Amino acid sequence: MVDSNASSGAPEETPNPSPDGNAPSDSDLALDNLARKVQESLALGKRHKFWESQPVGQFKDIGDTSLPEGPIEAPTPLSEVKQEPYNLPNPYEWITCDMDSEEMCIEVYTLLTNNYVEDDENMFRFNYSKEFLQWALRPPGYFKSWHIGVRVKNSKKLVAFITGIPARIRVRDEIVNMAEINFLCVHKKLRSKRLAPVMIKEVTRRVHLEHIWQAAYTAGIVLPTPISTCQYWHRSLNPKKLIDVGFSRLGARMTMSRTIKLYKLPDTTATPGFRKMELHDVPAVTRTIRKYLSQFIVAPDFDDNDVEHWLLPKENVVDSYVVECPETHEITDFCSFYTLPSSILGNQSYSTLKAAYSYYNVSTKTPLLQLMNDALIVAKRKDYDVFNALDVMHNGSFLKELKFGPGDGKLHYYLYNYRIKQTLKASELGLVLL
Ligand SMILES: CC(C)(COP(=O)(O)OP(=O)(O)OC[C@H]1O[C@@H](n2cnc3c(N)ncnc32)[C@H](O)[C@@H]1OP(=O)(O)O)[C@@H](O)C(=O)NCCC(=O)NCCS
Repeated sequence: MVDSNASSGAPEETPNPSPDGNAPSDSDLALDNLARKVQESLALGKRHKFWESQPVGQFKDIGDTSLPEGPIEAPTPLSEVKQEPYNLPNPYEWITCDMDSEEMCIEVYTLLTNNYVEDDENMFRFNYSKEFLQWALRPPGYFKSWHIGVRVKNSKKLVAFITGIPARIRVRDEIVNMAEINFLCVHKKLRSKRLAPVMIKEVTRRVHLEHIWQAAYTAGIVLPTPISTCQYWHRSLNPKKLIDVGFSRLGARMTMSRTIKLYKLPDTTATPGFRKMELHDVPAVTRTIRKYLSQFIVAPDFDDNDVEHWLLPKENVVDSYVVECPETHEITDFCSFYTLPSSILGNQSYSTLKAAYSYYNVSTKTPLLQLMNDALIVAKRKDYDVFNALDVMHNGSFLKELKFGPGDGKLHYYLYNYRIKQTLKASELGLVLL
C-alpha cells in the first residue's frame, strides 16, 4: 500500500535556508504534526472501524510502554486460517493476477494508470510502468496468489487490486518474515463502499496461508498507527518543465533563468571509479549494503538473490551505481534510484513527469553528499525531470545542501501485527518500499 503523495512537490524555487541550531529538526516537526493529527481525529471522534479491529498499534496505546515489543497476536494454526476467500458483493469476483502474462499486466497497468495515487490537488497520478510492476511483484520467492484482483463478473473488467510480496525485515535484532503490501487500488467509481477492508482481509488471509503473520506497508494517510512518518523531498532537474506543469513555483525574487542556473549540474560525475553496477558486483554490494543497513532499526535483510533482483540495473526501472576504488578494485560505495513517472493531468504541453526516486545508498569512502550529487548528474543526463528522496537513513545529511526542497505530503510507515514501543525517527528507518 505504498503511496508517496504522487508528485505533489511544489518546492519553492529558492534554496532552503541552512538549518538553524535552535530550530526543531524535521523529524521533530513530523512527530508534532502526527501528534496533532491524532489529537484532531480523537477530538472529532473519528473512528477507524476496520483498523480498530486489526492487530495493529492503536491510537489509545500510544505512549504505553508497558506493552511488549513484537507480534501483537500469536500465529494461528494453519487449520484455523479461513480456507475460502472472503465474500465480495455479488457483481464482483476474485482473480489471481498472473503477472507473467502480458495481457494481465496491461489490465493491471490500465487500472493503476487511471485510478492509483494522486497528489492532493489532482494534478499528477502515479504511472508505474508494466516493466516496473513485473519487477516489483516478482522478487525471489514471490507468491502468485498474493497478486489479487477483483473483476466485474459480467464485463470481466478489472476494478480493484492489492498485492503482497515476501520480504525478510529486521526489526532491531529480530529478522521477521513479512509481506510487503502495495498497490491497493479501487476503481474511482467504486470508492467508499468498504471494498478496501475486504481486499486487505483477503490478502492477509492468503499471506497467513503461507505461514507469514506480519506485514509492512506505507500510506499517505494516517491510520492506526505509524511506526514512523517521513517526508518526501524533491530536487528539480528540469525546473522549467516543473514550473510549467505546476509541480513547482518560481520562488520570490527569482527569474526563470536564475532558477535554471541554480539547478544546473555538471555534465560528468566527480567520483573516480563511479560506474554502473554489474552482475559480478552482487556479492560485494550485498556485503556493503548489509553492513550499512545494520545501523537502522527497521531494514530489509538482503541476501545475494535479493540484491540481484532489487539492485541490478534494469532499464527504465532501477538504476544502480557503484564506486570501484581505482587502485584496489574494492567496491566502496553504492547508490540507486528507481523510475516512477507520473501522468500530468490536463496539461496541454506535457503528459508525463519523469521522476527518479532515491532507493538504497551506501557511503563508506565517498562522502554521501558527493555520491548523491553524482546520482543527480546521471539522472539529469538520463533526462529525469525531478529526483525525489525520503528523509530516511542518512538522506537528511544531503537534502538541503543538494537543493532538494520539502514536499507537501507525508509518507507513513506501518507494520501489521508487530508492535514497536516508540515511534521511530525517519533517520532510524532503513527501508524503502516502492
Ligand atoms: C485507497 C483506496 C483503495 C481506499 O478505498 P476507498 O473506496 O476509498 O475506501 P473503502 O470505503 O473501501 O474503505 C475504507 C477503509 O479503508 C481504509 N483505507 C483507506 N485507504 C487505505 C490505505 N491506503 N491503506 C490502508 N487502509 C486504507 C480506511 O482507513 C477505511 O478503514 P477505517 O474505517 O478503519 O479507517 C482508494 O481510495 C484508492 O484506490 N485510492 C487511490 C489509490 C491509493 O491511494 N491507494 C493506496 C495507496 S497507500
